[in-house]
Amino acid sequence: MSEENKRMFSLIAKNYDKTNRLISLGADSGWRKEAAKECAIDKKSINVLDVATGTGELAISIVRQVEKNKRKVHVVGLDFNKDMLKIAKDKIAKKGIIDIDFMMGDALALNLCNSSFDVVTSGFALRNFDDLQQFMKESYRVLTPGGKIVFLDVAKPDNVFNKLFEKYYFNIIPLMGARYNKDAYVHLITTAWRFNKNVLSQMAKSIGFVHPKLRNLTFGTAFIFTANKPKKAKR
Ligand SMILES: C[S@@+](CC[C@H](N)C(=O)[O-])C[C@H]1O[C@@H](n2cnc3c(N)ncnc32)[C@H](O)[C@@H]1O
Repeated sequence: MSEENKRMFSLIAKNYDKTNRLISLGADSGWRKEAAKECAIDKKSINVLDVATGTGELAISIVRQVEKNKRKVHVVGLDFNKDMLKIAKDKIAKKGIIDIDFMMGDALALNLCNSSFDVVTSGFALRNFDDLQQFMKESYRVLTPGGKIVFLDVAKPDNVFNKLFEKYYFNIIPLMGARYNKDAYVHLITTAWRFNKNVLSQMAKSIGFVHPKLRNLTFGTAFIFTANKPKKAKR
């Protein structure tokens, strides 16, 4: 699955940002901004790990949002796809952003020390991980006590808009993605539709996180999930 995932993201890397904007009807940048606001925790200097950073859009949004709140921030953006990371690196060089470093790595076996980040984020990637619980365990391990996870993703709305969005997802999005790679976009939609966001709170608690919160965005088509590592947790 992971190899398949890597190949798929290499195929869509070049047009990923453009297509994302198109299929979310421009909402994706607003969703990232909301997730980035969650990272502006009460600390003067904040260390963030953005897992499955892709083309670095969430990492950039975090730097902008946290600095707006007059706090220092450093983001490490990690991904296992070199083509996505290349676009991310070129993008920050062009924008003159110096507070982000990118690295290759696997979300399920983070090559990082215990208790080294204040916040762990991940945008639009939860449904791609082969083992979500393992990713949450790794996030817990690398967080400092009191640290926070901020996960953003899309999912099926569990409300009256369900049927309407099902039509949009399965009939219109593949047509938009067809210009680039239809199969990849069908995969992205199918995984979003299958993903059960309601398992996150229980999963987080079973690992040791406290204060889990699930917040729906745009009629429940996207969500932000946050939880904390207890302040008294072992390092
Ligand atoms: C849909 S993109 C999201 C990119 C970015 N976070 C955003 O906000 O647009 C998903 C990313 O997850 C990465 N990914 C998937 N599984 C991974 C894993 N096990 N370890 C590291 N990266 C992974 C892919 O390479 C891809 O760049």
